[in-house]
Amino acid sequence: MTETAEQQQQNPLTEGLTLKRSPDPCALVIFGASGDLTHKKLMPALYSLMFRRLLPSRFAIVGVARSEENDESFREGMKQAVQQYARDEFRQDIWDELAAGMRYISTDFADESGEDQLHGLVDKLDGEMSLDGNRVYYLAVPPPAFPTIVEAIGKRKSGKGWTRLIVEKPFGHDLASAQHLTSLLREHFDENEIFRIDHYLGKETVQNMLALRFANGIFEPIWNRQFIDHVQVTVAESIGIEGRAGYYEQAGAIRDIFQNHLLQLLALTAMEPPIDFTAESVRNEKVKVLKSLHTPGPKSVVRGQYGRGFVEGEEVPAYREEEGVAPDSMTETFVAAKLYVDNWRWADTPFYVRMGKRLARRETTIAIQFKRAPHPPFEETAAEGLRPNVLLVHVQPDEGVSLAIGAKVPGQGMTIRTVHMDFLYGGAFRTGMPEAYERLILDTLLGDATLFTRADEIDEQWLLVDAIVAAWQRDRPAFPNYAAGTWGPPSSDELIHRDGRSWRRH
Ligand code: BG6
Repeated sequence: MTETAEQQQQNPLTEGLTLKRSPDPCALVIFGASGDLTHKKLMPALYSLMFRRLLPSRFAIVGVARSEENDESFREGMKQAVQQYARDEFRQDIWDELAAGMRYISTDFADESGEDQLHGLVDKLDGEMSLDGNRVYYLAVPPPAFPTIVEAIGKRKSGKGWTRLIVEKPFGHDLASAQHLTSLLREHFDENEIFRIDHYLGKETVQNMLALRFANGIFEPIWNRQFIDHVQVTVAESIGIEGRAGYYEQAGAIRDIFQNHLLQLLALTAMEPPIDFTAESVRNEKVKVLKSLHTPGPKSVVRGQYGRGFVEGEEVPAYREEEGVAPDSMTETFVAAKLYVDNWRWADTPFYVRMGKRLARRETTIAIQFKRAPHPPFEETAAEGLRPNVLLVHVQPDEGVSLAIGAKVPGQGMTIRTVHMDFLYGGAFRTGMPEAYERLILDTLLGDATLFTRADEIDEQWLLVDAIVAAWQRDRPAFPNYAAGTWGPPSSDELIHRDGRSWRRH
């Protein structure tokens, strides 16, 4: 089933995805197989990988969950998930190939029989399909289920082949619980066998930050405090909590987005050039940024919670009116902060970050705002409409990069306005954008941990979050403090206006 490199190059679907090596045969065991993540992300990603012939030639999928199902009903449920959520058209022949190696086990590991069943089945599949003892275990379950599962798979780790463990977020609730989880995992697995997911790292545009910075000679010399006035990172969502109150009430925006996605975007923007593109080199540089983050004072962090409002023309309830949310909930759905990276490159350069649910629009961007030209030789009125240069990375949607520059308005005289030079993925490349999970699953199969978070990064992320959360215990903001469909509470604007700056216009 594996295509030759030549065939892959001719195929627009695999263009740009030609692999230097194919993943080894293996069994992928998904814990939490009846959950949302498996339906909406994992199975569609596996289907798209199969569509492009990127999966190993011999590959089994074992779904594990508590619900009573058999192989057939599991396959049927997964087929529907693929039909509903995959980015590629549904093709029966592709599906049949994927489904042939698919099995299901119902257990909650309450006793040894679940373990016996699982290991018996995987060993049997290994024998039938020659999987060489290679295993990937995917923990797509809520964190309280981790210890039992890790114990069940760790103690019977096969001596043959390799074993890898993918751990979904949230990785802990604070520094102490994250470290506890790491030590639990390390009882059975080496750090290089653990793949902690932050799906933002699987996004093309996030990886493009590295390409933009390190594949182009023109940006690096000006990527520092001398030329950059400040950086703005926005992770805005128009959706609410989508029925996940149980999780979100405990997490809030600070643990759901800030602790992981947001800090990773910041680390990739601020990091030093790695000596090579290996997992250790890239992560060594990211962790240095995370370690250099200055703990912001109380005035430099604001939080919000949405009230009722209109999003994209539709009236939506307040956070406190969502099902499962306490009527007096103090959980934040919005955070904005001014952060500093205390090192030579960035000293005194603010990184303004904001993220929230039920904002006006879905938009994730990283805006690098450069300093003004030192001496514009034009008459004052000529450049009235001119703004400083901004390099804007559109992470999503409308993926691309745009550079705001000053240009002369055609006609007599000298009037200067800001215009945009745009690179749009959709226009520049023929291929569609892969889903983050496709890249991350494939990288795990290949054993490449570059786009996964290492334990020390997680620790640094929690250190900062724990300090912010501790400061929050001292006061009780009047929630809700922003209407759904807006850009957050007024205090978010005040945070940046105090410095004579504003959030990027939308
Ligand atoms: C998840 C969060 O990690 O990321 C969700 O738990 C959030 O609350 C989601 O909606 C956003 O992901 P994306 O890829 O849609 O930006």
